[in-house]
Amino acid sequence: MSDDVSADRPAPAHIAIIMDGNGRWARRRGQPRAFGHRKGVETVRRIVEGTGDLGVKHLTLFSFSTENWRRPADEIGALFELMKHYIAADLDGLARRGVKIRILGSREGLREDVSDMIRRAEARTADNTAFHLNIAFNYGGRDEIVRASRAIAEAAQKGELDPARLDEGAFGTWLDTAESPDVDLMIRTSGEQRISNFLLWQAAYAELMFVDTLWPDFTIDQLADAIDAYKTRSRRYGGLDAGAA
Ligand code: IPE
Ligand code: IPE
Ligand code: MG
Repeated sequence: MSDDVSADRPAPAHIAIIMDGNGRWARRRGQPRAFGHRKGVETVRRIVEGTGDLGVKHLTLFSFSTENWRRPADEIGALFELMKHYIAADLDGLARRGVKIRILGSREGLREDVSDMIRRAEARTADNTAFHLNIAFNYGGRDEIVRASRAIAEAAQKGELDPARLDEGAFGTWLDTAESPDVDLMIRTSGEQRISNFLLWQAAYAELMFVDTLWPDFTIDQLADAIDAYKTRSRRYGGLDAGAA
């Protein structure tokens, strides 16, 4: 496919980013890992600010995984503080700009102050529609699917849901991402090439991109480049390109 054809192709409706490389960014500067996480929040601000202008309506950022509990307590504490402060500092501005905030993931095991902040952010922005910002925090794709399955089973047990009517579309409405379409483009920074339990259901047909840049150095221009590259990809969903039959 040539670029002039791709120019007419739609931008991805939903971009998901695995924000990786904060620790390495800090280590290269002889700093503690938390220094990299703090710097990473500045990248979050830049990307959240600029993504809507690139024609994208849904952005999901991976910020703390169910597996990240394996890290030292002080690093986990720093990540929780940063999450809390990010929302506290930016909520007003995001709300005013029409951003709807949704925190994906399990609320179990979260500190009270963090879950309070999450509730506040979601309640405050619930009626917004201009841009959807999903932050995956204490999130694992398998955990999300298990939580949804449990809720579905409970509803069926109560007679509120007919198992025979459960199809892929209906299942999706039980997931944390119920209000966002499937992921079109998934980007991971820092050169690692794996999914690490992110959006397993939603990324079934996502285009994957891996960039070497560490998250604190990632720029909106790089995101724009990724979107341009996305537009040149041929998405077949198991079928054939037009005219190939
Ligand atoms: C990503 O950076 C942020 C989180 C996973 C919370 P890392 O902390 O994983 O940084 P690296 O991969 O060790 O460089
Ligand atoms: C994935 O990064 C999780 C987040 C970005 C929040 P990790 O750094 O935790 O992933 P692995 O352990 O390298 O797969
Ligand atoms: Mg990492």
